[in-house]
Amino acid sequence: MKILVVGSGGREHALVWKVAQSPLAGEILAAPGNAGTATLARNIAVAADDIEGLVRLASDERVDLTVVGPELPLTMGLADRLADAGLPVFGPSAAGARIEGSKWFAKKLMQKGGIPTAAAYLADTREDAISRAEELGYPVVIKADGLAAGKGVVIAGSAVEAEAAIDDMLVRGRFGSSGERVLIEECLKGEEASILAFVDGESSALLAPSQDHKRAFDGDEGPNTGGMGAYAPAPVVTPAMLGTIKNDIIDATVRALRETDGTVYRGVLYAGLMVTEDGPKVIEFNCRFGDPEAQVTLPLLDADIVEVMVATARGELDPSAVGTSAGSAACVVMVSGGYPGSYEKGKVISGLSSAGALDDVVVFHAGTAERDGDVVTSGGRVIGVTGTASDLPAALVRAYDGVSAITFAGAHHRHDIGHRALERSGGVTR
Ligand code: AMP
Ligand code: GLY
Repeated sequence: MKILVVGSGGREHALVWKVAQSPLAGEILAAPGNAGTATLARNIAVAADDIEGLVRLASDERVDLTVVGPELPLTMGLADRLADAGLPVFGPSAAGARIEGSKWFAKKLMQKGGIPTAAAYLADTREDAISRAEELGYPVVIKADGLAAGKGVVIAGSAVEAEAAIDDMLVRGRFGSSGERVLIEECLKGEEASILAFVDGESSALLAPSQDHKRAFDGDEGPNTGGMGAYAPAPVVTPAMLGTIKNDIIDATVRALRETDGTVYRGVLYAGLMVTEDGPKVIEFNCRFGDPEAQVTLPLLDADIVEVMVATARGELDPSAVGTSAGSAACVVMVSGGYPGSYEKGKVISGLSSAGALDDVVVFHAGTAERDGDVVTSGGRVIGVTGTASDLPAALVRAYDGVSAITFAGAHHRHDIGHRALERSGGVTR
Protein backbone atom coordinates (compact mmCIF):
# COMPACT_ATOMS: atom_id res chain seq x y z
CA MET A 1 0.00 0.00 0.00
CA LYS A 2 1.09 3.57 -0.67
CA ILE A 3 0.63 5.58 2.53
CA LEU A 4 0.70 9.37 2.99
CA VAL A 5 1.37 10.84 6.44
CA VAL A 6 0.34 14.50 6.78
CA GLY A 7 2.34 16.75 9.13
CA SER A 8 5.93 17.55 10.05
CA GLY A 9 6.43 17.03 13.79
CA GLY A 10 7.75 14.35 16.09
CA ARG A 11 4.33 12.70 16.12
CA GLU A 12 4.42 12.37 12.34
CA HIS A 13 7.95 10.91 12.37
CA ALA A 14 6.71 8.36 14.93
CA LEU A 15 3.72 7.58 12.69
CA VAL A 16 5.95 7.11 9.63
CA TRP A 17 8.29 4.91 11.73
CA LYS A 18 5.42 2.70 12.92
CA VAL A 19 3.78 2.53 9.48
CA ALA A 20 7.15 1.48 7.98
CA GLN A 21 7.12 -1.61 10.25
CA SER A 22 3.90 -2.90 8.71
CA PRO A 23 4.20 -5.64 6.11
CA LEU A 24 1.32 -3.87 4.32
CA ALA A 25 3.32 -0.66 3.80
CA GLY A 26 4.88 -0.04 0.42
CA GLU A 27 6.02 3.46 -0.41
CA ILE A 28 5.47 6.07 2.31
CA LEU A 29 4.99 9.78 1.55
CA ALA A 30 5.23 12.59 4.11
CA ALA A 31 3.73 16.03 3.52
CA PRO A 32 5.64 18.11 4.30
CA GLY A 33 7.65 15.85 6.68
CA ASN A 34 11.03 16.68 8.25
CA ALA A 35 14.62 15.44 8.03
CA GLY A 36 13.65 12.35 10.06
CA THR A 37 10.69 11.28 7.94
CA ALA A 38 12.99 11.70 4.91
CA THR A 39 14.94 8.61 6.04
CA LEU A 40 11.84 6.39 5.72
CA ALA A 41 9.52 8.29 3.38
CA ARG A 42 9.51 10.56 0.34
CA ASN A 43 8.93 14.09 1.65
CA ILE A 44 6.69 16.25 -0.52
CA ALA A 45 6.54 20.01 0.01
CA VAL A 46 2.81 20.37 0.53
CA ALA A 47 1.86 22.12 3.78
CA ALA A 48 -0.33 20.34 6.33
CA ASP A 49 -3.04 23.02 6.01
CA ASP A 50 -3.06 23.09 2.19
CA ILE A 51 -6.25 21.05 1.84
CA GLU A 52 -6.49 21.38 -1.96
CA GLY A 53 -2.82 20.49 -2.37
CA LEU A 54 -3.12 17.42 -0.14
CA VAL A 55 -6.23 16.11 -1.91
CA ARG A 56 -4.47 16.60 -5.27
CA LEU A 57 -1.35 14.84 -3.96
CA ALA A 58 -3.29 11.83 -2.61
CA SER A 59 -5.23 11.59 -5.84
CA ASP A 60 -2.26 12.06 -8.23
CA GLU A 61 -0.15 9.57 -6.31
CA ARG A 62 -3.05 7.11 -5.95
CA VAL A 63 -2.47 6.92 -2.21
CA ASP A 64 -4.16 3.92 -0.54
CA LEU A 65 -4.34 5.49 2.93
CA THR A 66 -3.80 9.05 4.17
CA VAL A 67 -2.95 9.37 7.87
CA VAL A 68 -3.56 12.89 9.20
CA GLY A 69 -1.27 13.92 12.08
CA PRO A 70 -2.29 17.47 13.16
CA GLU A 71 -5.68 18.85 14.16
CA LEU A 72 -5.79 21.85 11.84
CA PRO A 73 -6.36 20.00 8.53
CA LEU A 74 -8.95 17.79 10.27
CA THR A 75 -10.92 20.81 11.54
CA MET A 76 -10.61 22.24 8.01
CA GLY A 77 -12.29 19.14 6.53
CA LEU A 78 -9.37 17.26 4.98
CA ALA A 79 -10.86 13.86 5.87
CA ASP A 80 -14.21 14.83 4.30
CA ARG A 81 -12.53 16.04 1.11
CA LEU A 82 -10.47 12.85 0.77
CA ALA A 83 -13.51 10.66 1.46
CA ASP A 84 -15.52 12.59 -1.15
CA ALA A 85 -12.75 11.83 -3.65
CA GLY A 86 -12.96 8.12 -2.76
CA LEU A 87 -9.57 8.18 -1.02
CA PRO A 88 -9.30 6.22 2.27
CA VAL A 89 -8.31 8.38 5.23
CA PHE A 90 -7.44 7.83 8.88
CA GLY A 91 -8.76 10.80 10.87
CA PRO A 92 -12.19 12.15 11.74
CA SER A 93 -14.46 14.35 9.63
CA ALA A 94 -14.68 18.09 10.33
CA ALA A 95 -17.86 17.35 12.29
CA GLY A 96 -15.91 14.92 14.51
CA ALA A 97 -12.92 17.26 14.79
CA ARG A 98 -15.16 19.87 16.46
CA ILE A 99 -14.46 17.87 19.62
CA GLU A 100 -11.07 19.62 19.59
CA GLY A 101 -11.89 22.67 17.47
CA SER A 102 -14.56 23.97 19.83
CA LYS A 103 -14.16 23.46 23.56
CA TRP A 104 -17.81 24.43 24.06
CA PHE A 105 -18.98 21.81 21.57
CA ALA A 106 -16.97 19.22 23.53
CA LYS A 107 -18.32 20.47 26.85
CA LYS A 108 -21.97 20.35 25.72
CA LEU A 109 -21.45 16.86 24.33
CA MET A 110 -20.02 15.71 27.66
CA GLN A 111 -22.85 17.37 29.58
CA LYS A 112 -25.46 15.64 27.38
CA GLY A 113 -23.66 12.30 27.47
CA GLY A 114 -23.07 12.30 31.24
CA ILE A 115 -19.30 12.16 30.73
CA PRO A 116 -17.29 13.24 33.80
CA THR A 117 -15.75 16.69 33.28
CA ALA A 118 -15.30 20.06 35.00
CA ALA A 119 -18.38 22.29 35.38
CA ALA A 120 -18.25 25.12 32.83
CA TYR A 121 -20.16 28.04 31.37
CA LEU A 122 -19.89 29.77 28.02
CA ALA A 123 -19.57 33.56 28.02
CA ASP A 124 -19.25 36.06 25.20
CA THR A 125 -19.38 39.26 27.20
CA ARG A 126 -16.94 40.55 29.80
CA GLU A 127 -19.68 41.03 32.41
CA ASP A 128 -21.07 37.53 32.00
CA ALA A 129 -17.59 35.97 32.09
CA ILE A 130 -16.65 37.81 35.28
CA SER A 131 -19.88 36.91 37.06
CA ARG A 132 -19.46 33.23 36.13
CA ALA A 133 -15.89 33.29 37.46
CA GLU A 134 -17.16 34.77 40.74
CA GLU A 135 -19.79 32.03 40.88
CA LEU A 136 -17.24 29.21 40.47
CA GLY A 137 -14.70 30.78 42.86
CA TYR A 138 -10.90 30.80 42.55
CA PRO A 139 -8.77 29.31 41.14
CA VAL A 140 -10.88 29.30 37.98
CA VAL A 141 -9.97 28.29 34.44
CA ILE A 142 -10.53 30.68 31.51
CA LYS A 143 -10.37 29.09 28.03
CA ALA A 144 -10.69 30.40 24.51
CA ASP A 145 -13.39 28.34 22.77
CA GLY A 146 -11.47 27.73 19.53
CA LEU A 147 -8.02 26.43 18.57
CA ALA A 148 -5.25 28.53 20.13
CA ALA A 149 -2.17 26.33 19.63
CA GLY A 150 -2.30 25.18 23.25
CA LYS A 151 -2.00 28.75 24.57
CA GLY A 152 -5.66 29.64 25.11
CA VAL A 153 -5.94 28.40 28.72
CA VAL A 154 -5.35 30.51 31.82
CA ILE A 155 -5.64 29.23 35.39
CA ALA A 156 -6.58 32.37 37.30
CA GLY A 157 -5.83 32.34 41.02
CA SER A 158 -7.76 35.52 41.78
CA ALA A 159 -10.44 37.86 40.44
CA VAL A 160 -7.70 40.21 39.18
CA GLU A 161 -6.04 37.43 37.15
CA ALA A 162 -9.38 36.21 35.84
CA GLU A 163 -10.36 39.70 34.68
CA ALA A 164 -6.99 40.15 32.95
CA ALA A 165 -7.45 36.86 31.05
CA ILE A 166 -11.04 37.67 30.15
CA ASP A 167 -10.04 41.13 28.88
CA ASP A 168 -7.19 39.63 26.90
CA MET A 169 -9.49 37.20 25.08
CA LEU A 170 -12.85 38.97 24.87
CA VAL A 171 -11.84 42.65 24.76
CA ARG A 172 -8.38 42.69 23.17
CA GLY A 173 -9.04 39.69 20.91
CA ARG A 174 -5.70 38.00 21.66
CA PHE A 175 -6.77 34.73 19.97
CA GLY A 176 -8.82 36.33 17.20
CA SER A 177 -12.06 34.52 16.46
CA SER A 178 -10.94 31.54 18.60
CA GLY A 179 -11.32 33.76 21.69
CA GLU A 180 -14.60 35.50 20.86
CA ARG A 181 -16.32 33.11 23.24
CA VAL A 182 -14.69 31.85 26.41
CA LEU A 183 -15.36 28.98 28.77
CA ILE A 184 -15.29 29.72 32.46
CA GLU A 185 -14.47 26.40 34.04
CA GLU A 186 -14.12 24.76 37.44
CA CYS A 187 -10.46 24.07 38.27
CA LEU A 188 -9.88 20.33 38.74
CA LYS A 189 -7.26 19.01 41.16
CA GLY A 190 -5.22 15.88 40.63
CA GLU A 191 -2.68 14.37 38.28
CA GLU A 192 -3.05 14.55 34.49
CA ALA A 193 -2.91 11.64 32.05
CA SER A 194 -3.46 11.20 28.32
CA ILE A 195 -5.56 8.42 26.85
CA LEU A 196 -5.31 7.76 23.12
CA ALA A 197 -7.81 5.37 21.57
CA PHE A 198 -8.52 4.04 18.11
CA VAL A 199 -12.25 4.47 17.55
CA ASP A 200 -14.24 3.34 14.51
CA GLY A 201 -17.58 5.00 15.29
CA GLU A 202 -18.66 2.17 17.64
CA SER A 203 -15.76 0.16 19.06
CA SER A 204 -12.58 1.40 20.66
CA ALA A 205 -9.12 0.14 21.55
CA LEU A 206 -6.98 2.06 24.02
CA LEU A 207 -3.24 2.58 23.73
CA ALA A 208 -1.08 2.57 26.87
CA PRO A 209 -1.98 5.48 29.18
CA SER A 210 0.68 8.18 29.02
CA GLN A 211 1.69 11.43 30.67
CA ASP A 212 2.95 14.59 28.99
CA HIS A 213 5.14 17.30 30.60
CA LYS A 214 3.80 20.63 29.37
CA ARG A 215 5.95 23.13 31.30
CA ALA A 216 9.30 24.21 29.87
CA PHE A 217 11.50 23.68 32.93
CA ASP A 218 12.27 21.02 35.53
CA GLY A 219 9.85 20.74 38.43
CA ASP A 220 6.96 21.76 36.14
CA GLU A 221 8.07 25.39 36.21
CA GLY A 222 7.99 27.95 33.43
CA PRO A 223 5.64 28.52 30.51
CA ASN A 224 3.43 25.91 28.85
CA THR A 225 4.89 24.28 25.74
CA GLY A 226 3.65 21.79 23.16
CA GLY A 227 5.11 19.05 25.39
CA MET A 228 8.68 18.53 26.69
CA GLY A 229 8.53 14.77 27.15
CA ALA A 230 6.26 11.85 27.95
CA TYR A 231 6.24 8.32 29.23
CA ALA A 232 3.96 5.30 29.14
CA PRO A 233 2.39 3.49 30.82
CA ALA A 234 1.54 6.16 33.39
CA PRO A 235 0.83 4.44 36.74
CA VAL A 236 -1.60 7.20 37.81
CA VAL A 237 -4.01 5.30 35.54
CA THR A 238 -4.48 1.90 37.17
CA PRO A 239 -5.59 -1.10 35.09
CA ALA A 240 -9.04 -0.95 36.77
CA MET A 241 -9.34 2.76 36.00
CA LEU A 242 -8.51 2.06 32.36
CA GLY A 243 -11.68 -0.04 32.10
CA THR A 244 -13.76 2.79 33.54
CA ILE A 245 -12.14 5.28 31.17
CA LYS A 246 -12.92 3.06 28.18
CA ASN A 247 -16.58 2.62 29.14
CA ASP A 248 -17.52 5.90 30.77
CA ILE A 249 -15.35 8.29 28.78
CA ILE A 250 -14.17 6.98 25.40
CA ASP A 251 -17.11 4.75 24.45
CA ALA A 252 -19.63 7.13 26.04
CA THR A 253 -18.22 10.02 23.99
CA VAL A 254 -18.26 8.09 20.73
CA ARG A 255 -21.88 7.13 21.51
CA ALA A 256 -22.82 10.71 22.36
CA LEU A 257 -21.30 11.90 19.09
CA ARG A 258 -23.32 9.32 17.19
CA GLU A 259 -26.60 9.60 19.07
CA THR A 260 -26.88 13.25 20.04
CA ASP A 261 -24.91 14.76 17.19
CA GLY A 262 -25.28 12.23 14.35
CA THR A 263 -21.49 12.10 13.88
CA VAL A 264 -19.70 8.82 13.26
CA TYR A 265 -16.23 9.47 14.67
CA ARG A 266 -13.40 7.45 13.12
CA GLY A 267 -9.74 7.96 13.95
CA VAL A 268 -7.89 8.61 17.19
CA LEU A 269 -9.76 10.11 20.10
CA TYR A 270 -7.40 11.61 22.65
CA ALA A 271 -8.81 12.35 26.10
CA GLY A 272 -6.74 14.66 28.31
CA LEU A 273 -7.76 13.63 31.83
CA MET A 274 -7.39 14.86 35.36
CA VAL A 275 -7.33 11.91 37.77
CA THR A 276 -9.19 13.50 40.69
CA GLU A 277 -10.23 12.15 44.09
CA ASP A 278 -13.59 11.40 42.43
CA GLY A 279 -12.00 9.51 39.55
CA PRO A 280 -10.88 10.53 36.07
CA LYS A 281 -12.49 13.63 34.52
CA VAL A 282 -12.02 15.03 31.03
CA ILE A 283 -10.03 18.27 30.69
CA GLU A 284 -10.13 18.29 26.90
CA PHE A 285 -10.48 16.09 23.84
CA ASN A 286 -8.17 16.09 20.84
CA CYS A 287 -9.02 14.60 17.46
CA ARG A 288 -5.55 13.13 16.78
CA PHE A 289 -2.53 11.49 18.39
CA GLY A 290 -0.74 13.54 21.06
CA ASP A 291 2.73 14.93 20.53
CA PRO A 292 4.90 13.69 22.32
CA GLU A 293 2.45 11.01 23.52
CA ALA A 294 2.67 9.29 20.10
CA GLN A 295 6.43 8.94 20.57
CA VAL A 296 5.88 6.72 23.64
CA THR A 297 2.58 4.97 22.88
CA LEU A 298 3.40 3.88 19.31
CA PRO A 299 6.62 2.07 20.34
CA LEU A 300 4.52 0.11 22.87
CA LEU A 301 1.72 -0.62 20.39
CA ASP A 302 1.75 -4.32 19.63
CA ALA A 303 -0.21 -4.32 16.37
CA ASP A 304 0.11 -3.79 12.65
CA ILE A 305 -0.78 -0.10 12.67
CA VAL A 306 -1.70 -0.02 8.99
CA GLU A 307 -4.14 -2.88 9.43
CA VAL A 308 -5.63 -1.15 12.50
CA MET A 309 -5.94 2.21 10.74
CA VAL A 310 -7.55 0.72 7.63
CA ALA A 311 -10.04 -1.20 9.78
CA THR A 312 -10.77 1.90 11.88
CA ALA A 313 -11.39 4.00 8.77
CA ARG A 314 -13.85 1.38 7.51
CA GLY A 315 -15.71 1.07 10.82
CA GLU A 316 -14.39 -2.47 11.25
CA LEU A 317 -11.93 -2.12 14.13
CA ASP A 318 -11.15 -5.39 15.91
CA PRO A 319 -10.06 -4.28 19.42
CA SER A 320 -8.38 -7.64 20.01
CA ALA A 321 -5.90 -6.79 17.21
CA VAL A 322 -4.59 -3.84 19.27
CA GLY A 323 -2.15 -5.07 21.90
CA THR A 324 0.23 -3.29 24.25
CA SER A 325 3.76 -4.56 24.83
CA ALA A 326 5.05 -5.09 28.35
CA GLY A 327 7.60 -2.57 29.54
CA SER A 328 7.85 1.20 29.39
CA ALA A 329 8.77 3.95 26.98
CA ALA A 330 10.06 7.43 27.79
CA CYS A 331 10.59 10.35 25.43
CA VAL A 332 12.72 13.42 26.18
CA VAL A 333 12.21 16.39 23.87
CA MET A 334 15.17 18.62 22.97
CA VAL A 335 14.06 22.15 22.12
CA SER A 336 15.63 25.30 20.69
CA GLY A 337 16.93 27.82 23.26
CA GLY A 338 14.18 30.32 24.02
CA TYR A 339 11.26 28.03 23.13
CA PRO A 340 8.28 28.48 23.66
CA GLY A 341 9.25 32.13 23.17
CA SER A 342 11.30 33.27 20.20
CA TYR A 343 14.28 31.15 19.13
CA GLU A 344 16.80 30.89 16.31
CA LYS A 345 16.68 28.25 13.58
CA GLY A 346 19.32 26.71 11.35
CA LYS A 347 21.63 25.31 14.06
CA VAL A 348 23.54 22.23 12.92
CA ILE A 349 22.57 19.09 14.88
CA SER A 350 25.27 16.50 15.54
CA GLY A 351 25.27 13.07 17.13
CA LEU A 352 22.00 11.89 15.59
CA SER A 353 23.43 8.67 14.22
CA SER A 354 25.35 7.75 17.38
CA ALA A 355 22.17 8.32 19.44
CA GLY A 356 20.12 6.27 16.98
CA ALA A 357 22.65 3.42 17.12
CA LEU A 358 22.10 2.90 20.87
CA ASP A 359 20.07 -0.19 21.77
CA ASP A 360 16.36 0.46 22.38
CA VAL A 361 16.69 4.13 21.49
CA VAL A 362 14.73 5.79 18.67
CA VAL A 363 15.43 9.37 17.61
CA PHE A 364 12.28 11.10 16.39
CA HIS A 365 12.78 14.36 14.54
CA ALA A 366 10.36 17.26 15.07
CA GLY A 367 11.63 20.68 13.91
CA THR A 368 14.48 19.56 11.65
CA ALA A 369 15.41 20.16 8.03
CA GLU A 370 18.27 19.23 5.72
CA ARG A 371 20.72 21.92 4.59
CA ASP A 372 23.83 21.18 2.50
CA GLY A 373 24.06 17.63 3.82
CA ASP A 374 23.58 18.65 7.45
CA VAL A 375 20.51 18.25 9.63
CA VAL A 376 19.63 21.65 11.11
CA THR A 377 17.03 22.95 13.55
CA SER A 378 13.87 24.40 12.00
CA GLY A 379 11.39 24.62 14.87
CA GLY A 380 10.91 24.99 18.62
CA ARG A 381 10.69 21.32 19.44
CA VAL A 382 13.62 19.80 17.55
CA ILE A 383 14.19 16.15 18.53
CA GLY A 384 12.42 13.63 20.75
CA VAL A 385 14.54 10.74 21.95
CA THR A 386 12.53 7.68 23.01
CA GLY A 387 13.97 4.86 25.09
CA THR A 388 12.19 1.58 25.70
CA ALA A 389 12.95 -0.98 28.41
CA SER A 390 11.33 -3.41 30.81
CA ASP A 391 10.64 -0.60 33.29
CA LEU A 392 10.47 3.19 33.37
CA PRO A 393 13.79 3.90 35.14
CA ALA A 394 15.65 1.87 32.51
CA ALA A 395 13.68 3.47 29.66
CA LEU A 396 14.63 6.91 31.02
CA VAL A 397 18.32 5.96 31.21
CA ARG A 398 18.20 4.99 27.53
CA ALA A 399 16.35 8.15 26.47
CA TYR A 400 18.80 10.36 28.38
CA ASP A 401 21.80 8.45 26.98
CA GLY A 402 20.44 9.29 23.53
CA VAL A 403 19.95 12.95 24.48
CA SER A 404 23.56 13.13 25.77
CA ALA A 405 24.84 12.05 22.36
CA ILE A 406 23.00 14.86 20.50
CA THR A 407 24.15 18.48 20.43
CA PHE A 408 23.10 21.74 18.80
CA ALA A 409 23.68 25.35 19.81
CA GLY A 410 21.20 26.48 22.45
CA ALA A 411 19.67 23.02 23.01
CA HIS A 412 17.48 22.66 26.10
CA HIS A 413 15.64 19.70 27.61
CA ARG A 414 14.05 18.72 30.89
CA HIS A 415 15.98 16.42 33.23
CA ASP A 416 13.00 15.12 35.19
CA ILE A 417 10.76 13.37 32.68
CA GLY A 418 8.76 10.68 34.47
CA HIS A 419 9.20 12.27 37.90
CA ARG A 420 5.62 11.65 39.04
CA ALA A 421 5.80 7.94 38.25
CA LEU A 422 9.24 7.64 39.87
CA GLU A 423 8.01 9.43 43.01
CA ARG A 424 5.10 6.97 43.22
CA SER A 425 7.46 4.01 43.14
CA GLY A 426 9.90 5.67 45.57
CA GLY A 427 12.52 6.19 42.87
CA VAL A 428 14.53 9.34 42.29
CA THR A 429 14.77 11.60 39.28
CA ARG A 430 18.09 12.35 37.67
P1 AMP B 1 -5.93 22.42 27.37
O1 AMP B 1 -5.41 23.39 26.35
O2 AMP B 1 -7.40 22.33 27.49
O3 AMP B 1 -5.19 21.11 27.29
O4 AMP B 1 -5.42 22.97 28.77
C1 AMP B 1 -4.03 23.15 29.01
C2 AMP B 1 -3.71 22.77 30.42
O5 AMP B 1 -4.43 23.59 31.32
C3 AMP B 1 -4.13 21.36 30.78
O6 AMP B 1 -3.19 20.41 30.39
C4 AMP B 1 -4.24 21.46 32.28
O7 AMP B 1 -2.97 21.41 32.87
C5 AMP B 1 -4.79 22.84 32.47
N1 AMP B 1 -6.26 22.81 32.61
C6 AMP B 1 -7.17 23.00 31.62
N2 AMP B 1 -8.42 22.90 32.11
C7 AMP B 1 -8.32 22.66 33.43
C8 AMP B 1 -9.25 22.47 34.50
N3 AMP B 1 -10.57 22.53 34.29
N4 AMP B 1 -8.77 22.26 35.73
C9 AMP B 1 -7.43 22.22 35.97
N5 AMP B 1 -6.50 22.39 35.01
C10 AMP B 1 -6.92 22.61 33.75
N1 GLY C 1 0.83 16.66 24.12
C1 GLY C 1 -0.33 17.45 24.03
C2 GLY C 1 -0.97 17.45 22.73
O1 GLY C 1 -0.59 16.75 21.81
O2 GLY C 1 -1.96 18.16 22.59
